[in-house]
Amino acid sequence: MSSTVDIGTVGIAGCGLMGSGIAELCARAGIHTLVFDVNSAALATGRARVEASLSKAVARGKLTLEESERAWASIHFTTDLDRFADRDLAIEAVPEDTEMKLALFSALDKVMERPDALMASNTSSIPIMQLASATNRPDHVVGLHFFNPVPVLDLVELVPTLKTDDTAWHRMHHFAADALGRRVIISQDRAGFVVNALLIPYLLASIRMFESGFAVAQDIDDGMVRGCAHPMGPLRLTDHIGLDTTLAIAECLYREFREQLYAPPALLSRMVEAGHLGRKAGRGFYDYHVPGAPTADASPAAPSGGRPPLSS
Ligand code: 3HC
Repeated sequence: MSSTVDIGTVGIAGCGLMGSGIAELCARAGIHTLVFDVNSAALATGRARVEASLSKAVARGKLTLEESERAWASIHFTTDLDRFADRDLAIEAVPEDTEMKLALFSALDKVMERPDALMASNTSSIPIMQLASATNRPDHVVGLHFFNPVPVLDLVELVPTLKTDDTAWHRMHHFAADALGRRVIISQDRAGFVVNALLIPYLLASIRMFESGFAVAQDIDDGMVRGCAHPMGPLRLTDHIGLDTTLAIAECLYREFREQLYAPPALLSRMVEAGHLGRKAGRGFYDYHVPGAPTADASPAAPSGGRPPLSS
C-alpha cells in the first residue's frame, strides 16, 4: 500500500464495529486517522477493539510488531468533531439511521475547512444522494461501503451520485484501491448497492424459514456452511451484522423498491424490539456468553424455534 495518494488525513465519524474497523484499516495504511464519537464509552470500546485486532493480526502473521505499533501511533480518538477541520476526508460510520446521518453530514459540512475535502458514507443501504443533499458540497460526497470484519474482508463498494464530480471520484477511487489496497466494485446509487441488495433478501429468507418452523437454526446454517461452503450460515451472519442493522437495511430496500423480497419478517421486528440484536447484545438467533463467542451448543433463541414437525 502506498501513501502517495493525496489523502493523508482521515476522520472517521462513529466508533462502532464498522467505524473502528475502518479506522484500523486507514491507520494500517499509514494514514493519520482521527476517530470521533459523541459517546466516550463507545470510543473506549472501539479503541480496545482496534488494539485486540492489531494483536490478532500480529499473532496471525498478517502484520509485524513494528507495523502494528506504527498503526497504533497513527490513530487518535476524540469526542470533539471540530478536530475534523483539517481533514482531507471524513468517513461517516454511524448507525443506519437516516436522520442521524443527515445531521452528521450537515455538521461535517460546517466543520471541514479544506475546500477540496471529501466526504464519504459507509451506509449499508441509504442512497448517497440523500446524504449528500445535507451538505453544500454534494459534488464532493461519495459512498464508500466496507464489510465486517473490515480488516479481514478486502472489498469496498464505491458509489458515485448524480452530482459527484470527476476529480472527487478519481481521488476516492485511488484512495480505496491504492492507499487502502481494497478490491473496488462500483455501484449505481440505489438502496443497498450491489452486495446488500443481494445479501439481505437471502438473510430475510432464512429468517422466514426459521420463523415458519421449516427447519431449526443450526440446520439452516449448517446447510449453507457445509453444503455451499459459506464461511457462516445466514442466521449466524445476521447475528454478526446485528438484527437492528439488518432490519434498517431491509426497510430502506423495501422503501426504495417496494418488492416483497425486501419486506422484513415479523420475527425480525419482534427480536429487535426485544433487544435480541445478535452477537453484540449477547443474544440473537444464538446465545453468546462472551462477546463474539457463540456458545458451544448454540440454540435457537426465538419462540418459534424448535424441531419442525416430521409429518408435515
Ligand atoms: N487482521 C488481519 N487479518 C485477520 C485479523 C485481523 N485482525 N483477524 C483475522 N484475520 C485473518 C486470519 O489471519 C485469517 O486469515 P487466513 O485465512 O489467511 O489465515 C482470516 O482473517 C480468518 O480469521 P479467523 O480464522 O480468525 O476467523 P474465521 O476463520 O473464524 O473467520 C470471519 C471469521 C472472517 C468473520 C468469517 O467467518 C467470515 O468471513 N464470515 C462472513 C462475514 C461476512 O459475510 N461479512 C459481511 C457482512 S455484510 C456487511 O458487512 C455489509 C454491511 O453493510 C451489513
